[in-house]
Amino acid sequence: MYNNCVKTLEINGLNLSFKLETGIYPTLFDVSLSLKKGEIHALVGESGCGKTMTAMSIIRLLPKNAVITSGSIIYNNTNLLTASENEIRNLRGREISLIPQDPMTSLNPLYTIENQLLEVINKDKTLSKKDAKRKAKDVLEMVKIPNAQDKLDSYPHELSGGMKQRVIIAMALASNSKIIIADEPTTALDVTIQAQIMKILNDIKNEFGTSILLISHDLGLVGEYADEISVMYSGHIVENSSKTEFFTNIKHPYSKALMESLPANNTGSLLKTISGQPPNIQEKIEGCRFSPRCEIYDKTICNNCPKLIDIGNNHKVACCRTNNN
Ligand SMILES: Nc1ncnc2c1ncn2[C@@H]1O[C@H](COP(=O)(O)OP(=O)(O)OP(=O)(O)O)[C@@H](O)[C@H]1O
Ligand code: SF4
Ligand SMILES: [Mg+2]
Repeated sequence: MYNNCVKTLEINGLNLSFKLETGIYPTLFDVSLSLKKGEIHALVGESGCGKTMTAMSIIRLLPKNAVITSGSIIYNNTNLLTASENEIRNLRGREISLIPQDPMTSLNPLYTIENQLLEVINKDKTLSKKDAKRKAKDVLEMVKIPNAQDKLDSYPHELSGGMKQRVIIAMALASNSKIIIADEPTTALDVTIQAQIMKILNDIKNEFGTSILLISHDLGLVGEYADEISVMYSGHIVENSSKTEFFTNIKHPYSKALMESLPANNTGSLLKTISGQPPNIQEKIEGCRFSPRCEIYDKTICNNCPKLIDIGNNHKVACCRTNNN
């Protein structure tokens, strides 16, 4: 049983812009989010809303033209945004692991699975060669890879997408990571495999108290496994609460629209879709960035960019009409 009030990681007021030939474009606006010990925190929103840039800011693997203009990311009393490159390199893949959407970007096609696991395991200099090899097999078994001993000799191309994703999760286990950032870890996989991978992540959380930042555009999928949910729209966190509070007292019009577009909430054959498209970073919008798509937009009330406000029960919402809906 883990004390899930202990914050493992805290993002405070993160602002990020992109430099393009035509100018500098703010992309993340005052993003704040905390990841508690032994918790799955889901970050949900449509494509382009800034989920990956938020995640990559944590491990400082951002595109060259990205500039963090303000904010802090605190882990173990250290601000990761100002830590030295060396410090960050030591955390990456050890204490903080990334599970990307496409597992091939993390696995080296030239090395066997065992070699890649041993590279991580051997960072612990206290293990004998025999113990390190045993640990490699153990972590593959923990992520339910059948015939783990045989799979150690395989190369990544010999494994299916789901198996490769398990190997990457095994690497996070091998390094005893405190935090796993799972960026759309199941998008490329079929539905049955998706559920298996989600269950493995959930088991890891329960067994080791690992904190998991689970990024997804699929509220239905993460809804099942998350402890806490943050909804992101156009670079802003627009709603944040525990999962229970979220599903019983959903407030933001965008979160509601996401919810209504879930297949389970539709009785007819046509899914309700959210009208319009999210804005791109170069689009200037006065006031609330969701206003062009919002069904309850009111020009007399929605004229400021709404701040994320605690409405009680640790439930935060960024909407000028929170009291009216
Ligand atoms: N190198 C770049 N230069 C300019 N804009 C960029 C760059 N990389 C990302 N962006 C923009 O930043 C915004 C946030 O991107 P991000 O990748 O974080 O979105 P996302 O929520 O992860 O989307 P997806 O669900 O498609 O992965 C998007 O509008 C994207 O177009
Ligand atoms: S502030 Fe206004 S436009 Fe924005 S989400 Fe709330 S009601 Fe809609
Ligand atoms: Mg992304």
